[in-house]
Order: sequence, then structure tokens, then C-alpha cells
Amino acid sequence: MKGRAMGERRGTGSRGQGTAGETRGPRVLRRAIVRIVLAALAIVVSAAAPLRADDGYGLWLRYPRVDDAARMAEYRASITRLVLPGESPTLRAARDELRRGLRGMLGMEIPISPSVSASGALLVGTPASSRRIAALGLGEELRRVGDEGFVIRAASVGGRRTIVIAANRDVGVLYGAFHLLRHLQTHRPLADLSIVQSPRIGRRVLNHWDNLDRSVERGYAGRSLWEWDALPDSLSARYVDYARANASIGINGTVLTNVNANARVLTAPYLHKVRALAGVFRPYGIRVYLTARFSAPMEIGGLETADPLDPAVRAWWKAKADEIYRTIPDFGGFLVKANSEGQPGPQDYQRTHADGANMLAEAVAPHGGIVMWRAFVYSAETPTDRVRQAHDEFHPLDGRFQGNVLVQVKNGPLDFQPREPFHPLFGAMPRTPLMLELQITQEYLGHASDLVYLAPLFEEVLDADTHARGAGSTVAKVIDGSLEGHRLTAIAGVANTGTDRNWTGHPFGQANWYAFGRLAWDPDAASAEIAEEWLRMTFTHDPSFVALVKAMMMRSRETAVEYMTPLGLHHIMARDHHYGPGPWVEGGGRADWTSVYYHRADTLGVGFDRTAAGSSAVAQYAAPVAARWGSRQTVPDSLLLWFHRVGWTERMRSGRTLWDELVHRYDAGVDSVRGMRRTWDGVRGTIDPERHADVAARLATQEKVARWWRDAALLYFQQFSRQPFPPGAEPPAHSLEFYRRRVGPEVPEFGEATHAIARPGFSGPSRPR
Ligand code: GCU
Repeated sequence: MKGRAMGERRGTGSRGQGTAGETRGPRVLRRAIVRIVLAALAIVVSAAAPLRADDGYGLWLRYPRVDDAARMAEYRASITRLVLPGESPTLRAARDELRRGLRGMLGMEIPISPSVSASGALLVGTPASSRRIAALGLGEELRRVGDEGFVIRAASVGGRRTIVIAANRDVGVLYGAFHLLRHLQTHRPLADLSIVQSPRIGRRVLNHWDNLDRSVERGYAGRSLWEWDALPDSLSARYVDYARANASIGINGTVLTNVNANARVLTAPYLHKVRALAGVFRPYGIRVYLTARFSAPMEIGGLETADPLDPAVRAWWKAKADEIYRTIPDFGGFLVKANSEGQPGPQDYQRTHADGANMLAEAVAPHGGIVMWRAFVYSAETPTDRVRQAHDEFHPLDGRFQGNVLVQVKNGPLDFQPREPFHPLFGAMPRTPLMLELQITQEYLGHASDLVYLAPLFEEVLDADTHARGAGSTVAKVIDGSLEGHRLTAIAGVANTGTDRNWTGHPFGQANWYAFGRLAWDPDAASAEIAEEWLRMTFTHDPSFVALVKAMMMRSRETAVEYMTPLGLHHIMARDHHYGPGPWVEGGGRADWTSVYYHRADTLGVGFDRTAAGSSAVAQYAAPVAARWGSRQTVPDSLLLWFHRVGWTERMRSGRTLWDELVHRYDAGVDSVRGMRRTWDGVRGTIDPERHADVAARLATQEKVARWWRDAALLYFQQFSRQPFPPGAEPPAHSLEFYRRRVGPEVPEFGEATHAIARPGFSGPSRPR
């Protein structure tokens, strides 16, 4: 602190030099010496000052003082007052955030001014809230940015240098305010500002798998944020910070409850609790949605059936929707998991998914609500390859859904594996708006112990070319509506937040929440740039820290694939909690909940044949994709064993046999985690010790996890390959039996876990909680 204050004085001192130059002789010399001594002291003090402890609560909205003197001077000269007329809750939120951010970064209070009376004003508003903005002639640009977009520009207002944030609606102002703050947080220049932005996807939604008892399915960061017992009377201060964080990255919807739904949330007392949350989120442009349990008319409505074609059931849902909208007028709508993993649904009455979705859609339509109907379905009887089933079920229903229904499709056809091909429904239902569901919480990616930056995974899916309408028909274009001309567009991310002080358990879990929002706003954004932004805002601008850690983040997803499921392997994790390896998992009633079903290893080879000779799942893709992935010659190594069975001694592109390649990939994954640890050790001292130590401890666990995966998987597959480990490969630390018995990396042989890391979610689909 002290060091910074001295630095400040140094700045004003040099600005005052012109006047100081008028005095002469020894006084000048004395002053100069004093200044040099003070400056030297400032450097010593700031170098010695401990970096302030940071518990991670502030996320990417910490707003530390700008430590680049030139930028600081530029910012202070450019923003001297804030002109933000208007008193709507959203405008107030924008004003509060700008004041908070500017106070932090500029180290001074920026006064509020009623008008642009001098140069250096930050003028913020809509044509309705500010006459000045209405008079700027931004009509054409504002027309382009729609309801949520904004324009940020350097302008001359009455001959005075001004920065303008303008939007059509208050929420656009709020997004513009956060954008300008991010601009400053990342130390970008203000000269010639000209930014015009609007989101590509309409509904950018978090899915909380939160239960009413505050447990979180697949949650690894504590309990649910929603304090159901205390609501509606008591409102945690955290709700506002949650809303700020989401608004800062453009998230405009939140589904509060688990897809494995509890009907009780639709009862009046709970609706009043939901209303209280909606009231906190509304100023931040965030609507609430709820999951609808299909059997709710029976469970809380006293009906005998939930048949979607039964008039009494339809009337019940209509009345329920009316009640919800009376309580929460801007309620977003329902998210539904039906006839999936034991959840009730229309097929219980021999009706289709479209019948079920349309009934709910009709109920919410008069209020402007939508239904997000999940395509994550597979039969309880395992009749065919599970990855085929969603397409088999939904493809024939294309065109049969009401206009306010979106079909919500996971990124891949199985279940959020470290790597999957894109879901074959993308591009295959042109008459139905499809939304993409990504998983931010790391169910299959090391829970809260593994550092895995997911943006490259999200990007891989968004950029995948479905070829549905020729080359260039990317998943991004399917879901932003541009490929088929849909206006209703959406994207969902399964949240990784909880009551842990730092929100996400792993400090780098915050990056995945952040990246989801940024990609939902702009699916073409680059994951590397998002990582850099996040690092600068969350940790430091130190160039070597940013470069090294960004590179580590960018590689981390591929690293996880290598030590978990290389070469297209999938679903070989431990049963139920999905943490750690379990390639031996078999039996238990459902073949498609086992590992052996998916890898099919025997002494001849390994992999799932999904070509015409096997399950034919590859034929669900457009012809060019099916041809590429269906051929052993053209399929990328990364999806090899997803689509093909391959002999252990067959040659790979690298020239190695399949077995040697498998060992090589697993080894590379472990080595890469060791490299991550070295990188992280090397940046000690550039960030606060608190978060540094936390990440270091988790990386230590991650190395154990990586070795655990590698040793267990290779020993298991070696039984079938009957090949030795290639020369140079590290021998496994234990026997296969040891790993089969093991439940986690915290067994004594691997050292005690340093903190609670793996807090498993619930086994398989949960009952209502
Ligand atoms: C996975 C996950 C479940 C979840 C389900 C879903 O299977 O393990 O916990 O309920 O996905 O997305 O519905």
C-alpha cells in the first residue's frame, strides 16, 4: 500500500516538474535528490511488501489498482467523472459497479456528475435515460446491437473529450459497463475506443444441479448457494455477488434446481422463495427458470396421472404456469429431464417427447415462457448402442415441437466425457431450435482436484463442422440460429458453483465459469484470449506469469484426456462418483453403466466399432463426417477407439503399435502434469501465497490422480494386450489388484490428501431431494 502511495506521489511530482523548473540552484538539486531517494524507497518497499492474501471470493472482479504507471496516467486523465443519469435498478447496478471498479483500479473516487461539464466524462446510458446520448446520433449502431448489446466509443460531447457507453436498454448499459471495466482490468488503451457488441445467443443460462436439501449433484464446491430454509425473508449478500459475476460475462438466466427434479419447488411456499431470488437477480438481467418434474401433477397436484394428453393434466400445468407468472412475472420457463435415468416422462403414457414438451410449452406460452427439453435420454433396457439413442429418439420428432420449445443437447452423445465427438443431433433437426448443454462442473474431469481449463473443449464443440448444409455448418451456427434461421437460441452450462469461499473449489474452476459466459456471448471467441483475460483479472499482469500459466491452461484439457481417456477411449471411470479410473467396472444390472461395455477390450484389440460393421452410430452424422470418422484411414487418433476396434499390434500414424501408443499417451499425460507443477512452482512469488499454495496442493494431488489413471488403465489393458511396457516407460507403482481395490488418491501409499478434494456427487441419477 505504502509503496503504491509513494509511486503516486512520484507521478504527480514529475507532472509538476515544469513549475519546479522555475526555481533555481541548490533547492532544485535537493528536491531532485529527495525525489530519487523517495522513488528508490518506493521500489524497495513495494518489492518487500507481501502480496495481499486473496481468498478468491472476488473472482475476476477484484479491481486491483492499476500497477502500470503509464496506463494509470492515461486512465486517470481519461475518466474524471461519471455521468450516468437514471434510477432504474439496472442503471443503479451499472453505476455501482463502475464506481466500485474505478475506485479500485484508479485508486480514487470518481465523482458522479449530472452533466458532461468537462473533458474526461464517462457518459453512460440509453437514449431514454440520457438526452446527451440520444443526441449523439448513434442510431445506426444502436439498431445493430439489439436489446442486450452496447456501443462504447471515444466521442466529443459539446467539444469535450468523453467516453460513451450507450445501449438501447438498461441491461445493455450494464453489459457495456462490465465490458469497459474489463477493458481497464486488462490494461488496454483507451485511445480511439470503438466497440460495438451484442450477444450471438439469446439465452445464456447456468444449470444448477442443486437440490432442495442444498446438496449439489456433481458439485465439488460445497453446498448449494440457495438457502432455501432462510428464503424468502433472508437474502444472502452472496446472491448479489453471484448476479454481478454472471452479468459481467453476459449470463442472463439461471435454472435454480436439479434436472433430477423435486416437484416441491413448484409449490407456493417455494415459489415465494424463488420470487425472492428473482428479485435479487432481475437488476442484473438474469431471469430464473426451474426444472419441472413431469409427475408433478400427481405428486403435488393430487391427480391420478401425468399423461400429457389428459385434459386435467394440461389444465393443471396451465394453472401452475399462471400461478408462477403471477408470482414471478419474468419467469424464464422450464427445463425438463424426462424419461431419462428413471425420471418420469411422457413415454410412461406411450406419448412422445414432443407431446410432453408441447403441453408445458402451451402452459407458459401466454406468458412468454419457454421450455428447454433435454435430449439426454437413453433406454432403461439398453437395446442399442447408447450413443445412438438420443438421435434415434429425437430425429423423427423434428418439426413437431411448439415454437417456444428448445431441445437441449449435450455437447457429445454420451455424457460429458473428457473427449467426445459432437452430438449427431446438431445439424440433424433443422426445424427445431437446438441448444447446447456444456458441463462446467468437472464430473468426469477430476472434480475439484484437477486443473483442467475447459474452454478448449467448449471451443472444439462449437467449431465442429456438422456439414449439415455443406462445409462450414458449425455447431456454433446451429445454436446461434444462423444456420437454419431460428430466432429462439440458447446455451446452457452445468454450474460448478457452491458455498466454498472461492465459489468453485479449485481456483481455476473459476476460469471455466468465466469461459462459459464469454463463449456464450461470442461462440467465436478464442479460448486462449479468454484465458489471458481471466488470468490478468484474477491474478496478475506479470507477463511471464501470464504467458506461462496461459500455456499451462491451454494444454490442460488435452493433458487430462491423455491421462484419463486417450485415443478415443470413453466411460472407463470409477462407478458412481466418476472420480478416478475404473476400466474394470462391469455387471450391476445395466450394461451401459459399465466400462467394459464401452472399451470392449479382449486379447485381439480394444474399442467400440460404430461403423456399419458395428453399431452404425457413425451413420448418424452427415455424409462427409460419417465418411471421415467411419474410415480407419481418416479418423483422427483422438476419436479412434470411439468409432473403431483396433488390434493391439496395429500400426498407428506415429509408427508405434496401438499398445505402445497407448502407453506413450498415458505417459505424456502424467509428464504434462509434472510440467504443470514445475510451471506453477516457478511462478511462486508473482501472486498471493494463499491461492498459490492452494493450487500447488491441488496440482500435487493431480499428479497422483494422473499416475493412478495411467497405472490402473495400462495394467488393466495389459492383461489383454499381453505386451510389455515399451523401453523407457515408467513401471506402474502398484499391482492391478491394488488399483482395483482403491477408492481414491488419499490412500496412505500416495500420501494423505492435503484437503478435501473429491467430494463425490451422488451415484447415478438421484431421487428427489
Ligand atoms: C450424468 C450425471 C448425472 C446427471 C445426468 C444428467 O449422468 O452423472 O448425475 O443427472 O448426467 O445430465 O441428467
